[in-house]
Amino acid sequence: MQKNDITKAVLLLRAGGLVALPTETVYGLGADASNPEAVRKIFLAKQRPSDHPIIVHIAHVSQMTDWARDIPEQALLLARAFWPGPLTLILKKAPEVSSILTGNQETIGLRIPNHPVALAVLKEFGGGIAAPSANRFGRISPTTAAAVREELGGAVDLVLEGGQCEVGVESTIVDLSGECPAVLRPGMITADQIEAVLEQPLLRKKKNAPRVPGALESHYAPVTPVHLIPAVQLKVFLQSRTEVETFAIIALSEFNAEGMNVIKMPRNPQWYAHDLYYVMRELDKKGLKEIIVESVPDGVEWDAVRDRLLRAAT
Ligand code: TXA
Ligand code: MG
Repeated sequence: MQKNDITKAVLLLRAGGLVALPTETVYGLGADASNPEAVRKIFLAKQRPSDHPIIVHIAHVSQMTDWARDIPEQALLLARAFWPGPLTLILKKAPEVSSILTGNQETIGLRIPNHPVALAVLKEFGGGIAAPSANRFGRISPTTAAAVREELGGAVDLVLEGGQCEVGVESTIVDLSGECPAVLRPGMITADQIEAVLEQPLLRKKKNAPRVPGALESHYAPVTPVHLIPAVQLKVFLQSRTEVETFAIIALSEFNAEGMNVIKMPRNPQWYAHDLYYVMRELDKKGLKEIIVESVPDGVEWDAVRDRLLRAAT
């Protein structure tokens, strides 16, 4: 990454432009978070409903007070443990924060991403960068710069190159704005890890949760229909299948699949997550009738992957 590109990105952000930037989770579609006109462009480019709040990315913990008020001790504990990293904290918003960022809610999502390009832009820019994932609403988040161009093309002023995202699925979202901390979206930082830092149990499913597009049933989905098949049923299910050229299988286990297009995924949840959106995006280009996915194990370390597969299959 050239110093030039960082400077160009910062100038564009200051001028109210849209800059797609790599983070360790997925690519984000960034705009100056303090410029409501710029943030409005994000909604247009993504075709995203205006009541869906957007995460503000910052460079330093000290910037939290620019966006949030009454920040609880728990937020600082989690920030110290996991930032920069794939964790978003939902906090009570500071009074002056624009309602366009918060989808008219009283809360704000904050995160320090762990990617050298994102951090360089954030540091040089100095302010908060509003950035949802750089995909059209409801689609799979991009994990490469090429995927951003496919998703948003000319709607972005600049796409910063930052390689393939290391984590590959979106950040864990923890809501600290209510009585009890709650996970709103699982990610690679697991609920167990968060509980260990907080020394307190999390509400795993929150009733009356704030509106989170990631919490819509069908989301993070390829265009090709996705069918999630329990691992124990996969072999029998495939025996009954003909027209093997019309589908592909995303699998964890080894099996004999004559003539079938099988993508064998890593057995490690981190590596699986790293590959998942990339694999789905590539399969989506093949004009298949169906993508069959073998279900993943039950453990908490698979929560993020399981969540994205369920949504893709809805
Ligand atoms: O890993 C990530 O979080 C990526 C990278 C780019 O940082 N960003 C991302 O943003 O996934 P987005 O907008 O695609 O998903 C963020 C989720 C959305 O479901 C949004 O509704 C939720 O966070 N969110 C943002 N602010 C919120 C708030 N104040 N209260 C509740 N949910 C919020
Ligand atoms: Mg998204």
